[in-house]
Amino acid sequence: MPATIRPNGREDLVAGVTRLKRERNAVILSHNYQIPEVQDIADYVGDSLGLSQVAARTEADVIVFCGVHFMAETASIISPQKKVLLPDLGAGCSLAATIDADKLRAWKKEHPKAVVVSYVNTTAEVKAESDYACTSGNAVKVVNSIPRDREILFLPDMFLGAYVMEKTQRKMEVWPGECHVHAGITPDVINRKLEEHRDAEFLVHPECGCVTQFLYFSEKGDFNLPMTQVYSTEGMVRHARQSSANKFLVATETGILHRMRKENPDKTFLPVKEDAVCQYMKTITLEKVYRSLRDMVYEVKVPKETADRARLSIERMLQLA
Ligand code: 13P
Ligand code: SF4
Repeated sequence: MPATIRPNGREDLVAGVTRLKRERNAVILSHNYQIPEVQDIADYVGDSLGLSQVAARTEADVIVFCGVHFMAETASIISPQKKVLLPDLGAGCSLAATIDADKLRAWKKEHPKAVVVSYVNTTAEVKAESDYACTSGNAVKVVNSIPRDREILFLPDMFLGAYVMEKTQRKMEVWPGECHVHAGITPDVINRKLEEHRDAEFLVHPECGCVTQFLYFSEKGDFNLPMTQVYSTEGMVRHARQSSANKFLVATETGILHRMRKENPDKTFLPVKEDAVCQYMKTITLEKVYRSLRDMVYEVKVPKETADRARLSIERMLQLA
């Protein structure tokens, strides 16, 4: 990072971002996994669904997207007239990388009548081949909206897919993809934590490798298991605010703990896995946000033909939300 990007220390950087934001008529959107100082300077912090809803309705000319590449693409697809900037093009996603448009086309050929539901963690080209997009916040709702006699191809996250099948009591064809951060949150890893903190509520993201197992035991009323809730990241933040519990074990990327602790200073939030850290989300720094606004980099623009097709799947999802 060139020294010029950080002129006179943190205060100047925050002031610089604020000034540039005003001059550019920009809005800063941040995912819940971003580093604290990026979350703190954002106009809106949320999950994939909330971020796409805000991107759809903002009146700003420029969206600085502090998240990963597929999120910036989604914002550009929804708001093609706006300039969408991703402060670091290295912010990818291991889950989105598990499937591309060629693989999806081949899968569709094997199931010509199927409805394709794609998790938002996919490239624009994959969304363009899909009938519906969904996020962790609305996947069950999206699948429930599809007539029960239709075959469904669900991609790319197999743990979210298994969770949706369990909740909808419906069989689907599920792509065998996983996010390396969430797949590592297995029952073995967290059992000891659960034993240590029996008084805590347990919040689980549906991308986790443990999700269906805990849901199963929780619904069966297993007395060895604390109160278990499965949520998107925003659902977890909302639940933490509303719950009367004082202690929470959190099974997702650890960036979310900043907002939970900030909003609930009297409650205790513990990660089930301290090293559940997404290096892609952490590539974005305050310096890079400043540079992004100063130099108007790096623009994420989806070619019109792909964007027009991908938009249909996203709009279907947003209408349901
Ligand atoms: P949500 O914030 O939509 O729950 O997504 C989690 C995630 O892994 C995004 O990359
Ligand atoms: Fe992708 Fe996983 Fe990182 Fe989310 S946490 S951006 S799914 S690699």
